[in-house]
Amino acid sequence: MRIVLVGGGGREHALARAMARHGHALYFTHDNPGFVELGERADDDPLLAARQVAAELVVVGPEAPLAAGLVDRLEAERFLAFGPSAAAARLESSKIFTKSLAARHGLPTAEARVLRRGDGLLIDRPWVVKLDGLAAGKGVWVPDTVEETRAALDEVFAARPDAAVLLEERLEGPELSVLGIADGTRVVPLIPARDHKRRHDGDRGPNTGGMGAVAPVSVPDDTLAECHDVLRRAVRGMKADGVPFRGVLYGGFMLTSTGPRLLEFNVRFGDPECQPLVTLLAEDPVPWFLGAARGELPGDQLRFSASHACCVVVAGHDYPARGASAPITQLPADADDLVVYHAGTSVRDGVLWATGGRVLGVTGLGPTPEAARARAYAGVSEVRFEGASWRGDIGA
Ligand code: AMP
Ligand code: GLY
Repeated sequence: MRIVLVGGGGREHALARAMARHGHALYFTHDNPGFVELGERADDDPLLAARQVAAELVVVGPEAPLAAGLVDRLEAERFLAFGPSAAAARLESSKIFTKSLAARHGLPTAEARVLRRGDGLLIDRPWVVKLDGLAAGKGVWVPDTVEETRAALDEVFAARPDAAVLLEERLEGPELSVLGIADGTRVVPLIPARDHKRRHDGDRGPNTGGMGAVAPVSVPDDTLAECHDVLRRAVRGMKADGVPFRGVLYGGFMLTSTGPRLLEFNVRFGDPECQPLVTLLAEDPVPWFLGAARGELPGDQLRFSASHACCVVVAGHDYPARGASAPITQLPADADDLVVYHAGTSVRDGVLWATGGRVLGVTGLGPTPEAARARAYAGVSEVRFEGASWRGDIGA
């Protein structure tokens, strides 16, 4: 099948590899050195690329084009596209929209209120502060004190005086990412994954797009069933509200002592959660993407291999403040149990450079979580570029 893939990060490299393995002809709108052996470069503009290659399917990786209505534009030209409409993408692009969906359809989530500058709310306890709108994983503050809460609000309103901010009750517990593929009516969940969002070991430092991810995560059956139920109710609720959701629905949950609570929805594969998930996929994902686009999923369950996967992100030293800029002098070789996904690299004069914030996603596979983790870190130890830096506790 002729497929245009939109996006050029580690997530898209993983998606490209998973699709190319099943013989699909891939066309890319972005450059990624990992794409070179998997397909061909097409126009930067996804619409032009789709016309150029007479695409049978367009797969959209990142959230920004979804929120900007790319799928609506493709569908207006009768292309099949995997991803939600702009209206449905509000599940990610507006946290306030999601809170109101949660309230209307009984999804368990944290208590919250909306705040704008000058509302005069007395901040007398610490609140989690969330910016309404896309923020690439960087629009959330989790203050420990009232003073830090006030400082976060001052920072937000100084930069964005018109912003709407969500103040949310702070929850405690391990996090879990449960993603599903939805066709507007039904959602089929993938195996559960876990991201590590903070920059430094021990979950310290600023929030990032994600420093590593593992799958599957072992959680009690009833907990997982509750998370699946949230995805199902969200898809049913969106349909009932006249905004059917097609694409990847990603629920970010906190597993509290009183059950899972929804922290956020994303409307696409997580990056880096996608890397372990699709590396473990034991079947062609394309019928699922196509089924979602058409409004009819091909089954009730996706098949995954029985292994475990661990993806460790190798970033530049100053990520998330600044990207890397250094030649990569050594990489581990891909093997049956190791894949190096390119996230922020480019080729300059024939030399591979680290040129992004998150540079590589080194993904190890193994029969146990420990074996997958050990394989990933053995791979990471072979990566050489100046300033290469990673967390040592992914999956620990
Ligand atoms: P979000 O983008 O909403 O998932 O938030 C990013 C990260 O902030 C999450 O992965 C959590 O680690 C943290 N976070 C978000 N909401 C809360 C909350 N209500 N309580 C505690 N931590 C939170
Ligand atoms: N890794 C979190 C995200 O993709 O939003």
